[in-house]
Amino acid sequence: MPRTHAARNGLLQPSATVAVAQRARELKAQGIDVLSFSGGEPDFDTPAHIAAAAKKAIDEGKTRYTAAKGVPELLDAVCARSKVRRGTDYGRENVVCSVGAKHVLFNLALVLYDVGDEVIVPAPYWVSYPEQVRYTGATPVVVETTMADGFRMTPEQLEAALTPKTKAVILCSPSNPTGSAYTEAQLRALADVLATHDCWILVDEIYGELVYDGFAQKSVIEVAPELKDRIILIDGVAKTYAMTGWRIGWMLGPAAVAKDVNKLQGQATTNPTTPAQYAVVEALSGPQDAVAEMLAAFTTRRSLITHGINAIEGLSCRMPEGAFYAFTDVSAHVGRKAAGRVLENDIELAGYLLEEARCAVVPGTAFGAPGHVRISYACSEAQIEEGLRRIAEALGKLE
Ligand SMILES: Cc1ncc(COP(=O)(O)O)c(C=O)c1O
Repeated sequence: MPRTHAARNGLLQPSATVAVAQRARELKAQGIDVLSFSGGEPDFDTPAHIAAAAKKAIDEGKTRYTAAKGVPELLDAVCARSKVRRGTDYGRENVVCSVGAKHVLFNLALVLYDVGDEVIVPAPYWVSYPEQVRYTGATPVVVETTMADGFRMTPEQLEAALTPKTKAVILCSPSNPTGSAYTEAQLRALADVLATHDCWILVDEIYGELVYDGFAQKSVIEVAPELKDRIILIDGVAKTYAMTGWRIGWMLGPAAVAKDVNKLQGQATTNPTTPAQYAVVEALSGPQDAVAEMLAAFTTRRSLITHGINAIEGLSCRMPEGAFYAFTDVSAHVGRKAAGRVLENDIELAGYLLEEARCAVVPGTAFGAPGHVRISYACSEAQIEEGLRRIAEALGKLE
């Protein structure tokens, strides 16, 4: 059967977040005024000084291949920024820069997981984690967390999920889709459990600089430095610096892991785009004022949306510590009827909100959390106010 596709294609689901965004774009193209709350990206432009660094790089002819893992200036900038943020002492041998944090995670999945391995993924999870695990032939072991626990895995849950087959645990703090972040004490308690199980600890900290109200964001590497030879940090510029389209992310971790990731990348993509690398050097080493400005805007929006959601009957969400998502319990509305038709689950409810309220939100099922929707507040205050009004009105029509 020479013309069949590889069996592993069947292991992968299309990205649900991408699908919702696409449906919203289609409706917009038809002239329908859709408000999108589905995006996973800041609505700001990349700060001008960062864009200027890329233009300068192009003008200086920095447009050729580089080392697969990135130019030395970028590796140094990544290490220096991590030192400021987390007090780490990583060197160039500990870093690989890739085409976004998603690519970093995919590289790591291919390098670390074997068929039959188990990888612990707390839910609600970022959509790509279980998919990438499955693609390698490993099995995601999903640990369900609750709003009452702040959508954070407890040490007891972690202990119960660990088996001799556990190859890795993936944490995301602050989290997409919940915005929840682990406190230092919570990380310490998880680290105590992990101390007795020899597995990799992957921590996605791409939202690590987007935390609110002085939340004391800590990296697991600061809290449990004794686990350094098993901790792999995943990070990038997409969210912090409004650089989603530039496609640069990186891993920081043991040199042996970085070496194998670099080898894989050298056969797959080679380096991330060269001028973009120079933009990231500027993002990490230049002035950080733009980050503070964006954070101030997100802080106001967070408050607006969280209070607004909780004021709508049958909806509830917690005040997230970070990121820009309000993960909302909509279960009180599941099972109600729209024009005589029962909305059976969060997917149908999100579909109803798109058609009736013309608001695009992502169903929680996509994140392993049925009965919820993810509402992104990476949009203007005016849009949030109008969206909440429309959602309340549409829900009010349900029988
Ligand atoms: C938790 C998390 N990790 C990784 C990524 C991917 O980031 P990048 O755009 O750098 O690939 C995202 C983007 O949505 C994310 O939310």
